[in-house]
Amino acid sequence: MSDKTIQGLRKMALVAVALAVPMAASAGPEPGKVMKTANIENGKNIYFNGKGDVPACASCHGQDGLGDDAMGTPRLAGQGFTYVRKQLEDYASDKRMDTTMFVMNANAKGLSEQDRIDVAAYLFQWKQPYTGSDLKAVEELGQPIGKRHLGKSLVIYGAPERGITSCYACHQYNGRGAYPIYPELLGQRYVYLVNQLKKWRDESRTNDPGAQMREVAKNMSDEDIYNVATYLSTAPPSTIGNSYVPYHPIP
Ligand code: HEC
Ligand code: HEC
Repeated sequence: MSDKTIQGLRKMALVAVALAVPMAASAGPEPGKVMKTANIENGKNIYFNGKGDVPACASCHGQDGLGDDAMGTPRLAGQGFTYVRKQLEDYASDKRMDTTMFVMNANAKGLSEQDRIDVAAYLFQWKQPYTGSDLKAVEELGQPIGKRHLGKSLVIYGAPERGITSCYACHQYNGRGAYPIYPELLGQRYVYLVNQLKKWRDESRTNDPGAQMREVAKNMSDEDIYNVATYLSTAPPSTIGNSYVPYHPIP
């Protein structure tokens, strides 16, 4: 077999893994149908102005929707509709507890179910560049930074001998997301990524279906966590010659 054929087969195997897992897990309400009921203008208004006692989302997640490392808030712009909606439902029902700033549970409860759909739909269609984090600035906050090449290896291949599944298998190439279940990690904020991986590991976040993330994170060392966060917060969204970038048709 030529090198090219072997490379092709390896690629196909990776794609098969990446596609098989999300499809098996995605039986549920049809995201497209729910998103059609959304009032995107209302979602935008909530994001920038808040509603009732709920402050403007922009005050913590940024006017640009790209999150903030000093506050530990995530990038939300472009994130999957079904994923964001699920997180807001999970905060509203205390299935996910915000132990970072202790505000998201109250924020989600202060919105109606339709408001949560509206704001999730607004965020999904908001196209912003994948800027991630400025790691120098993060270091100045006192956060340890990892090694990018070691993070890249874990993201793409995992460490099967240590029970760490490749992130690619579920979150797709460089963590660009596989909707509706698997969120985008690429271009996500460094501090937020580190926090969430530690929360899956110490089980202060347990809203992952089938404990999929707890199974991965329980085998990760602090160094592994800093390494993958370093890579994901600075990873390119696509390969050269492959025009496939995030913003999938299925949200
Ligand atoms: C006072 C600051 C603050 C405000 C205001 C705020 N958030 Fe958050 N948000 C956070 C923090 C901190 C986190 C991380 C919480 C955690 O670790 O669970 C977060 C997490 C989230 C997440 C989880 C994202 C993910 O990738 O899982 C969503 C969705 C979200 N916020 C949506 C909103 C929306 C919508 C609003 C406005 C209605 C809002 N937030 C207002 C601070 C805030
Ligand atoms: C078996 C599938 C699977 C694998 C492998 C996997 N993940 Fe996940 N991951 C998930 C699921 C499912 C969620 C969404 C959980 C939810 O709905 O709250 C998730 C969510 C996350 C989140 C939270 C994102 C956010 O916005 O809050 C982070 C961070 C994360 N994964 C990192 C990783 C890293 C790093 C790896 C590789 C070391 C990895 N994952 C491997 C299934 C997986």
